[in-house]
Amino acid sequence: MSNNQLKYVLDETQIPKFWYNLTADLPVPLPTVLHPGTQQPAGPADLEPLFPMALIEQEVTSEREIEIPEPIRDVYRMWRPSPLYRARRLEQALGTPAKIYYKNEGVSPAGSHKPNTAVPQAWYNKEAGIRRLSTETGAGQWGASLAFAGALFGIDVTVFQVRVSYDQKPYRRALMETYGARCIASPSDQTESGRTILAQNPNSPGSLGMAISEAVEIAVKDPAVKYALGSVLNHVMLHQTVIGLEAIQQFELAGDDPDIVIGCTGGGSNFAGVAFPFLGLYLRGGRKRRIIAVEPASCPTLTRGKYAYDFGDTAHLTPLVKMHTLGSTFMPPATHSGGLRYHGMAPMVSHVHELGLIEARAYHQRACFDAGVQFARAEGIVPAPESTHAVRCAIDEALRCKAEGKAETILFNLSGHGHFDMGAYISYFEGRMIDQDYDEGALATALSELPAVAA
Ligand SMILES: Cc1ncc(COP(=O)(O)O)c(C=O)c1O
Repeated sequence: MSNNQLKYVLDETQIPKFWYNLTADLPVPLPTVLHPGTQQPAGPADLEPLFPMALIEQEVTSEREIEIPEPIRDVYRMWRPSPLYRARRLEQALGTPAKIYYKNEGVSPAGSHKPNTAVPQAWYNKEAGIRRLSTETGAGQWGASLAFAGALFGIDVTVFQVRVSYDQKPYRRALMETYGARCIASPSDQTESGRTILAQNPNSPGSLGMAISEAVEIAVKDPAVKYALGSVLNHVMLHQTVIGLEAIQQFELAGDDPDIVIGCTGGGSNFAGVAFPFLGLYLRGGRKRRIIAVEPASCPTLTRGKYAYDFGDTAHLTPLVKMHTLGSTFMPPATHSGGLRYHGMAPMVSHVHELGLIEARAYHQRACFDAGVQFARAEGIVPAPESTHAVRCAIDEALRCKAEGKAETILFNLSGHGHFDMGAYISYFEGRMIDQDYDEGALATALSELPAVAA
């Protein structure tokens, strides 16, 4: 094998046949999910109005390997296995002895990692006879991915898109509509939750928490409609593990092994996808790697949030889960990384952080765009604003290696491309991008409003 290889590509037959479930290897089990009304442990029946039973079973199982049905692998073949790149030009530009690799999830039809779970979620719903799905979207990446999956399986998709992103990102909305989805700005007048929020603030910019309330409400009220969530839940983490499972095979091809694994975190799914298979190797007796979750300083869930039971949405319709949270009433400032603007974190990611198995750090958006532009100029790919957080961290680790004279191997997940986010890059180039801090008082208030849950 030549020593200047740039990409490590697997054959379609090497798409994983099983997803990896970290639950099987956790040294301490995950805290129980609670019913929002009774605060008693929530059972599969409590989730049935929202999800088909196959997904509920994946949510609660502790089986290590879950078989990927052939029709899903068949769709995965449209873009998977995704390439693992060695960022040699970036390494050169940085003058670092570190080796930087990235998994490029931007090669999916919708442009991010989100179809890895949109496709199975749509397929399991179709198998259960469901023809209509409702969901929310922040930046539009998840909505576009579910719209794509809906088009493949003949499912009508309704997307509540957070108002700021609906206004700022007409192209993402057009993409959803191109795939056949109906897109509604949230908060909207179509749901009780939306109308309540609009009555309080007719100009509400919306938030993921609000949009989730609207999408959940539609599903709860109409038995013909189920709900799909693009992150946070255990089954979403599970589906995303195809990323890390492929990366493990690709590192074998490269004859290398990452010392550090990095992903950006909104609800936690692309991070879990790249990191959990490596964490599983460690928990089953393998070597320890540093695993770093990167979040925005304006919405610092893992680094500043409280590990507590909280609702997943603003209107308090979802079950209570134990997670790092800024409080379900917390309104993160608007930034260009709409997909990272969520008050909570996946319970699985929160749990492994609490156990000290992963690190977390937060960056402001301008530092992330500095890194995104540097990456684009070296590697040619324009990262999604969310993904620039992972790029920033990878570059900082490579610069640390340079200062310490260490040739460590760094892997990061490039969760999506930024072709629909050029407005954000324009604002960066025109010097209009600001590093907004969250309001400490508002955070304290939101945390003081966390539900009281008996330990
Ligand atoms: C490109 C991209 N990366 C990351 C995220 C964050 O989500 P998650 O933490 O679930 O990967 C999003 C969410 O929309 C996204 O669009």
